[in-house]
Amino acid sequence: MNHLLTIGELEPTIIQAILDLSLDLEESGEPILKQKNVGFVFEKPSLRTKIGTEVAINQLGGDVVQIEADLLLANGKAVPFTCRESLYDAMMNVSQWCDAVFARVYSHTTLEKMKQYGTIPIVNALCNLHHPMQALADMLTIQQECGKDQPLNISFVGDANNVAFSLTEIGLMMGHTVIFSGPKLYSWSDEKESYFGQLALKYGGKFIRTTDPAEGVYNADVVYTDTFVSMGEEHLFEEKIRHFQPYQVNEKLFSKAKSTAGFMHCLPAHRGYEVTDGVIDHKNSWVYQQAKNRKVVSKGVFALLLDEKLKKNKLNGLKNQSIKTKLTAGN
Ligand code: CP
Ligand code: NVA
Repeated sequence: MNHLLTIGELEPTIIQAILDLSLDLEESGEPILKQKNVGFVFEKPSLRTKIGTEVAINQLGGDVVQIEADLLLANGKAVPFTCRESLYDAMMNVSQWCDAVFARVYSHTTLEKMKQYGTIPIVNALCNLHHPMQALADMLTIQQECGKDQPLNISFVGDANNVAFSLTEIGLMMGHTVIFSGPKLYSWSDEKESYFGQLALKYGGKFIRTTDPAEGVYNADVVYTDTFVSMGEEHLFEEKIRHFQPYQVNEKLFSKAKSTAGFMHCLPAHRGYEVTDGVIDHKNSWVYQQAKNRKVVSKGVFALLLDEKLKKNKLNGLKNQSIKTKLTAGN
């Protein structure tokens, strides 16, 4: 693993190794990021991703450098005097000082260019298509609540967007059934549905799509939703709310899931829109555990990308061996 832009570029064994390593590091606090500097570039606002990851890096002895998005991204245009410098030049400069870049951008293409132009690892902190760090924290939360061995029904209700995409990938790759319910107009393209079908086939899970939220939530172990109006789509507020109103996760809808089902949301939540107070504050709501795990999984991801011993081993054997043993053995 040299970068982390999407969940789909990982393997299930690597995903599990990241989660196990993250828990080990959370417990041991081993300062394996000492003298490492991670540049943070955020084109959009963030609470959980930014603060959770900054605290994670600090707790492992590393430092975070905030880079103004305008300096690095500048709309990707290399037009003299309308932006400071090309993304190529900016990335080559940042690569001289930083050990990795953690970037939240509008367009996934920007991340691809950053990866191509720089010489250091790029980690996706959310883009229009993916939110891999969220999905890792979500899978950790699901495993903590439901264990690792049982195949589960993970029901996503709402918008076919970045969070839903990465959750669907990780759910299917870990062998679970993912049921998506949302309005047809905002659902997955045939191409994406076929990709999910292939993941299901490869890893032994199942992907189901419906427009009926009650059907989508029926017998679920996990009910997940995200905002109906994502960052940058504020102008679509009225139109989207109209289409998504039947997909609100309220007490009535949530009651169709198993009685033990957990409620999940990446947050920020818009109470009264995609979720009611009664569900987000329900005793089976895991939303703050998810938020806590945003910090935890950042430890595993940045350790794997930046720790020389782990990098050299490319995770070989990590499945069966704890990080502590591995580091002590000096591998
Ligand atoms: N869930 C999430 O990514 O939250 P932020 O936008 O606050 O980082
Ligand atoms: N889909 C949301 C997720 C926020 C964490 C957005 O892109 O704004």
